[in-house]
Amino acid sequence: MILPIYLYGQPVLKKVAEDIDAEYPNLKELIENMFDTMHHAQGIGLAAPQIGLAIRLVVVDLDVLAEDEPEFKDFRRVYINAHIIETSDETDTMEEGCLSLPGIHEKVTRPSRIHVTYLDENFVEHDEWVEGYLARVMQHEFDHLEGKVFSDRLSPLRRQMNKNKLGDLAKGRVYCDYKVKRVLR
Ligand code: NI
Repeated sequence: MILPIYLYGQPVLKKVAEDIDAEYPNLKELIENMFDTMHHAQGIGLAAPQIGLAIRLVVVDLDVLAEDEPEFKDFRRVYINAHIIETSDETDTMEEGCLSLPGIHEKVTRPSRIHVTYLDENFVEHDEWVEGYLARVMQHEFDHLEGKVFSDRLSPLRRQMNKNKLGDLAKGRVYCDYKVKRVLR
């Protein structure tokens, strides 16, 4: 089932999300719905706050990148209770976009490597260092779990440049070809 994606300006995107346990109601179905919602909107990552739930659940599908990066063939992952516990001093700068901020694409600087802990969909624990494009996607998605979006990471100048777009978004004035929950003011 395709769920509406909450746009910038929705309070849930500013909440710190909470850990869940295996008893979380209809978790399997929720994960399926999140994949459906993300695919429909042609995204590669989606965090639960983006569908209105302040819980630490993220889905990622990088298969669309497999033509250039074969290691991402069939790369579909579920990250539950994800936490970044350490980051490298070395950084990378890459362009990012977000399904909750349609129409905004900006370069963001982030650590190159991250040490993460999470549970997969079977509640098996993982503890690993991640680098490259996946580390980038994880940091973007896990930021959503901390109540942050990528525009919070822009330099004051770049944020100023996007001020009008962000203002329109926060007022629900945006065109979008997927189902969204906009702020009506
Ligand atoms: Ni996002």
